[in-house]
Amino acid sequence: MPSLSVFGAQWGDEGKGKLIDLLAQDADYVVRYQGGANAGHTVVVGGQKYVLHLVPSGILHPAKVNVIGNGVAVDPIKLLEEIEGLRARGIVVDGKNLRLSAGAHVIFEHHRLIDQCAERWRGEGRIGTTGRGIGPCYADKAARTGLRVCDLLDPSTRRARLRAALAEKNELLLQVHKEKALDLEGQLDQYTALAERLRPLVGDTGKEVRAAYRAGKRILFEGAQGALLDIDAGTYPFVTSSNTGPDGIAAGASFPPRQLDQILGIAKAYCTRVGEGPFPSEQKNAIGDKIREAGHEYGATTGRPRRCGWFDAVAVRYALDIAGADGWIVTNLDVLTGFPEIRAAVRYRVAGGETRDWPAEASSVERVEPVLTSRPGWTEDITGVRRYEDLPAAARAYVEWLEMEVGTPIRMLSVGPDRSQVIARGLKPW
Ligand code: IMP
Repeated sequence: MPSLSVFGAQWGDEGKGKLIDLLAQDADYVVRYQGGANAGHTVVVGGQKYVLHLVPSGILHPAKVNVIGNGVAVDPIKLLEEIEGLRARGIVVDGKNLRLSAGAHVIFEHHRLIDQCAERWRGEGRIGTTGRGIGPCYADKAARTGLRVCDLLDPSTRRARLRAALAEKNELLLQVHKEKALDLEGQLDQYTALAERLRPLVGDTGKEVRAAYRAGKRILFEGAQGALLDIDAGTYPFVTSSNTGPDGIAAGASFPPRQLDQILGIAKAYCTRVGEGPFPSEQKNAIGDKIREAGHEYGATTGRPRRCGWFDAVAVRYALDIAGADGWIVTNLDVLTGFPEIRAAVRYRVAGGETRDWPAEASSVERVEPVLTSRPGWTEDITGVRRYEDLPAAARAYVEWLEMEVGTPIRMLSVGPDRSQVIARGLKPW
């Protein structure tokens, strides 16, 4: 299987970083195609923790090509900080193992400021964004007022386009948000210097990845955020501003959709969400608090405590269905150790009865009541288990129940943060 899409099947933070890092062992290319530094992918290798925001999670393996595709919103300040942080820890990062698409849109200071100011204006309707400028950058992309990496690297284009952008954004900052205006020359100097440092990484990454696929190389597409934060399929407007699943790959990596060979979703054995918006199986009680503490559920990017709740089979079934997933991976199973009973939402109660289907509108998701069913828990430490048959019977029964409810095969289980803490089920994905 030379191409594999791995995406989040909940509201993000499913543990994608660790799984991508693991699957990257057998990949040649690891490609990000959407999102930006709003993502926080945590990878633990030999007890050392790495939090990656923009750099694909394959960077921790030597000789893999990591690609930031044209669909990613790139903050050059954050990207360079991340690269320098990795280098300081002895990881080689250069134009051979990290490639940046010339077509990726750039996040400027005005995007971050406007993101943060816009949240204040939203009041009660605020989204709870990461404040990283993601939404405003994608808005400019759609409005055709953004600057791509190639625009920033071209002296005449960058001046003309940034002048035009700032003329409008400064009015917005001054008049609407009561902030200070940004100085064109200062911004040009700062961002040009950043772009020049990135120049050795820049190229036509779509062409490079398509050629690699044709040459039989293994391509791993790394999704950021999750299906329920997808701008089209998620709980709009409480979503991020990109297509997070395999739906984003064709446009965001310039990769032909017919050449996507395998698709795997990732979901935690329970469920979390950061930011605002509906979350039917949320537990705003001692159970939610216990999950948060056991799973260290605090945002990798913002440090915010995550909202916690039981696994939601309706939501994951929907996420895997729209992605056409071949299978899925369950993470953080070990976090549920010690719960006397473990519950999961299997249906929703809606006006007029019960449904196994995900409602089409976020406002309806807010009104559903989850139908929770339970299974007995287990007390044995499972973090050292490596074979499925060595799991306690109650843990296996829980996993098989989730698989039955979701209706798609579970291919792997994760029982701890380290690369080694996984249990394969069935065929290896590659
Ligand atoms: P934005 O992507 O910063 O615009 O935030 C939009 C919504 O997506 C907010 O609810 C964020 O908390 C959420 N979000 C963005 N990135 C992530 C992520 O990597 N994990 C989990 N939630 C995220």
